[in-house]
Amino acid sequence: MAESTASTQLPRSPLPRHVAIIMDGNGRWAESRGLPRLDGHREGANSVRDVVRAARKIGLEALTLYAFSSQNWARPGSEVAGLMGLLRDYLIDERPEIMGNGIQLRAIGDIDRLPASVREPLDALSGDSAENSDMVLNLALSYGGRESIAAAAQRLAKRVAAGELDPRNINVDSFGAEMPTADVPGLDLLIRTSGEQRISNFLLWEAGYAELYFTDVLWPDFRKQALYDALEAYQARERRFGLTGAQIESGDLAP
Ligand code: FPP
Repeated sequence: MAESTASTQLPRSPLPRHVAIIMDGNGRWAESRGLPRLDGHREGANSVRDVVRAARKIGLEALTLYAFSSQNWARPGSEVAGLMGLLRDYLIDERPEIMGNGIQLRAIGDIDRLPASVREPLDALSGDSAENSDMVLNLALSYGGRESIAAAAQRLAKRVAAGELDPRNINVDSFGAEMPTADVPGLDLLIRTSGEQRISNFLLWEAGYAELYFTDVLWPDFRKQALYDALEAYQARERRFGLTGAQIESGDLAP
């Protein structure tokens, strides 16, 4: 469960470079208040605003948010339509905040499946913010980790079939270069809210050496301080990348 602290300070270094969040618990937040589920998503969108602002201020290089999974299309039509409406509103309303803070907005996932009402403001903002360099905000939309790996395999297979790639050169580096997150720092910290302890098809490739952080806080209640708590918990972890603790302590990382 969450290692909670009472701190309200900005966390000290070392900071993770790339943080990803599975934003879970919107429905339960609403249902526990006798509200429609969409009200939970709406409040969740306010958490997105708060957390993006805090992440940028702290100096994270990349933030990836699981906003809509490939599997979420199977939810009731009214909930899907409501979520699409919130996404559209976010992309339009947050444009000044994103542009004014040097944030580069990107989307990962099967973007062609999104309705034009979302794709249009998404394409516009990702195009206009493409040169921003202070933080990358990746929205995972119609996204699945398995789907993303399968699509990368398909692209590599096409290059092999075209005689452009020797299958012996398919390795972790060349495969990773096909992933949609290839040009942001490797994932350091994966957060999931709402007490569930699953990865749910998110960033399966990228999470290989990420620290995992689970908190009971429901996403609509996850604001700046909850992010700081997660970052402090991360700072207390020892990342070994398959080495021994003694190797890490001595700095003797040679094979
Ligand atoms: C999971 O909670 C959350 C989602 C499926 C959608 C996340 C969407 C937002 C936070 C709002 C819009 C996003 C942006 C980027 C503006 P759940 O509905 O599965 O919660 P439950 O498990 O309690 O039912």
